[in-house]
Amino acid sequence: MLTSKPRGTNDIIPGETELWQKIEAIITSLARNYGYREIRTPIFEHTELFLRGVGENTDIVDKEMYTFEDKGGRSLTLRPEGTAAVARAYLENKMYAWPQPVKMYYLGPMFRHDRPQAGRYRQFHQFGVEIFGTSHPASDAEVIHLCMAFYQLIGLENLELHINSVGCPQCREILRQKLMAYFESHRNDLCSICRQRVERNPLRILDCKNKICRDAGKDAPTPLDCLCQECRDHFASVRRYLDVQQIAYIVNPRLVRGLDYYTKTAFEVIAPDIGAQSAIGGGGRYDGLVETCGGPHIPGVGFAIGLERTISVIRKQGLEQETHRLMAFVAMAGDTEDVATRIIYTLRQAGVSCDRDYIGRSLKAQMKYASKINAKYVVIVGEDELARGNVTLRDMDTGKQYEVELDKLVAEIKSNTC
Ligand code: HAM
Repeated sequence: MLTSKPRGTNDIIPGETELWQKIEAIITSLARNYGYREIRTPIFEHTELFLRGVGENTDIVDKEMYTFEDKGGRSLTLRPEGTAAVARAYLENKMYAWPQPVKMYYLGPMFRHDRPQAGRYRQFHQFGVEIFGTSHPASDAEVIHLCMAFYQLIGLENLELHINSVGCPQCREILRQKLMAYFESHRNDLCSICRQRVERNPLRILDCKNKICRDAGKDAPTPLDCLCQECRDHFASVRRYLDVQQIAYIVNPRLVRGLDYYTKTAFEVIAPDIGAQSAIGGGGRYDGLVETCGGPHIPGVGFAIGLERTISVIRKQGLEQETHRLMAFVAMAGDTEDVATRIIYTLRQAGVSCDRDYIGRSLKAQMKYASKINAKYVVIVGEDELARGNVTLRDMDTGKQYEVELDKLVAEIKSNTC
C-alpha cells in the first residue's frame, strides 16, 4: 500500500518529465501565438457546478466524479474537466465586461473515477482552450485549427478529425423525441447501459462503441437530420472556414460527445494507433453553458486534449527524442575538490549544465558514471594539469581529450556546443 500509487494514477518520473516539459513549452508558445492567455482555476469546485454545467445525465456526473464533503459540510468535487470551471471563473471575475471575445487556455490535472485501462486514467492531464463571447463560426474553425496545429507541431501523423453539429436545444429536443421512438422499438438489441439511455439520454446511444448498439442504431436519425436552418448554416460556415484553411476532416453524423453542454459544432480527434481509447482530443461549441451557470447568454467554443493519450501516440510513432543532456561532468583526480567546486559554480553561472560525484568514486569510476548518465563532456580536474593552469576536457562522443586553460573552459565548451 505504502509503495503503490492509487489505481489509475501515474508518476511522471525523470526521463519522462523532459517530454512533458517540451510539450508544455509548445502549448504555451502556440496558445500565445493564437492570442490565448492562461487561466488557472482551483483543482476542486462546488459539486453543483459540474452537476449543472456538465449535466446530470452524463457518465461523468453519473458515475465518475470524485466528490467529497469538506469539514464545513460542503459538497466539493475534484474537477473532471475544465470548461465548466473556466465558465464559472469567467462569470465570477466579470470577464463579460472585458473586450470580447475572451480567449483562455489551461493545462493541468483532471479527475474521473472511471474503470482504469490503457489510456483511461483517474488522474490525467488536459491542455484546453476556451473562447467566450462570440458565436462566429470562424471561432469554431480557429479552435479546431489550433488543436490540429498542436498535433502537427509535435509531429503526430495518421490522425482523423471528426466533426459534427449536435444542433441547438430545439434541434436536440426534436432529435431526442425521434431517437426515443426509434430505440424504443430496438430496446432489446441494445447493451444494458444503452437500454437505460433510451429515456435518459438517447443521443449517447449513437456513439456507443458496442457492436450490437452500432448495428441496432444503423438506421437511427442523427443530429444532422434534425438541424434547424440557423444550425445548418452555422455548420456549413464552419466547414467552409476549415476548407479555406485546408484542414482535412470527416463529417461523422454519429458524433455526439459525452458532455451535455454542447450546441452546434462538436469535434473529436482520433488516433487509430493507440487502441480502444483513441480519442486524443475533443471539443465544440457550448452557447448555453454560461447561462446554465447562472450568467447572461454568452456563447463559447473550445476543446481539450488528453496529454497522456497524446504522449502514447508520440511513443507509438517513435517520435520521442532525447531532450535533456548534461553538458559537463566535473571529475576530480587527487586533492582538487576546492578547485572543482569553483569550476562547477562558474560553469553553472555561465549556463552550462554540470554535475559532480558525491559517492567518493575513483577517477575511473567517475568516467564510467559520466558515460552512464550520458554527459557530453567530462572536465577532469587533476593535480598535474592544475599545476600548469589547465584542466583536461574529454568529449565523450568522440573520445577526443585535450588540455584547456582554466580561464578558457567555459568558452571552449560553449563554442563546441552552440
Ligand atoms: P472530453 O472529451 O471529456 O472533453 O476530454 C477531452 C480529452 O481528455 C479526451 O479526448 C481524452 O484525450 C482526454 N481524457 C478524457 N478522459 C480521460 C481519462 N479518463 N484518461 C485519460 N485521458 C482522458 C472535455 O473534457 C471538454 N471539457 C473539452 C472541451 C473544452 N469542450 C469544449 N471546451
